[in-house]
Amino acid sequence: MDIESAFITGANRGIGLELVRLLAANELTHQKATRVLAACRCPEERAEELQNLAQRHPNIEIIKLDVDDWSSIENAAKKADELCGKGGLNLLVNNAGVNPMDSLKSGLNFQTSDMELAVRTNILGPIQMTKALLPVLKRSAQMTPSGKAIVVNISSSAGCIKQTPLNYKFGNLFPYRVSKAGLNMASVCMAEDLRADGIICLPLHPGWVRTDMGGQKAPLSVEESVSSCLKVIKNLTMQDTGSFLSYDGEVLPW
Ligand SMILES: NC(=O)c1ccc[n+]([C@@H]2O[C@H](COP(=O)([O-])OP(=O)(O)OC[C@H]3O[C@@H](n4cnc5c(N)ncnc54)[C@H](OP(=O)(O)O)[C@@H]3O)[C@@H](O)[C@H]2O)c1
Repeated sequence: MDIESAFITGANRGIGLELVRLLAANELTHQKATRVLAACRCPEERAEELQNLAQRHPNIEIIKLDVDDWSSIENAAKKADELCGKGGLNLLVNNAGVNPMDSLKSGLNFQTSDMELAVRTNILGPIQMTKALLPVLKRSAQMTPSGKAIVVNISSSAGCIKQTPLNYKFGNLFPYRVSKAGLNMASVCMAEDLRADGIICLPLHPGWVRTDMGGQKAPLSVEESVSSCLKVIKNLTMQDTGSFLSYDGEVLPW
């Protein structure tokens, strides 16, 4: 599917910034320019690279958005509605996420505030974003020849319940794991809710990636991860809705 318009959350660094970069330049997709709505918390302060990118690509619009703040989500959705016009929005990537660092080794002794933050940002954020952008996504599904729009929730294999007994000792990440497993369930519920509207929804694991969150020991560069993710996204069909996919297209266990 040609992606004519995309909304990316957490677009000022890491995986989100690379999604904006590759989509805006159409380096991989070889299609007409994608209009990229690049959302981040502090466009004026912590988004220098994104601002520079937007200067080079007039098809990037920077939008202020804190996914923990419902009024911020509503304002961003209104802006997206105006910018996307009657063609609507083809692709929403709920990428913004947190891994509260106190949770790295604390196991059951995690801070309650860390769990609250992880649930709010990693589960409720994508749900509220999808709800707010639903009218714009539906417009795209009605207008595109393929009759579909896509919601990708950037999840993690750390949310995979089946593999947790094998890898828990290497990184407890208690609140993070719970939040990503919850995001996976939310994605499947949304996939069922949105199926009749022609909107594909699924959780996507980007691999272990060298970003602030992934750290420098991660095997994948952001370019490797995001270029693979975009190939997967471009080839999605309604048959994939509700599946848990990896950046290389593999179907992951829940
Ligand atoms: N890196 C990996 O190995 C890996 C593996 C599996 C899954 N993931 C997932 O991939 C996604 C991106 O991760 P990353 O590695 O690129 O991490 P990152 O470099 O730490 O970037 C996280 C992004 O999320 C944004 N964000 C956090 N809370 C937000 C909020 N309340 N509102 C708006 N934006 C918010 C951050 O914005 P600020 O700059 O304002 O904080 C930043 O742009 C996350 O969902 C993560 O769980 C990453």
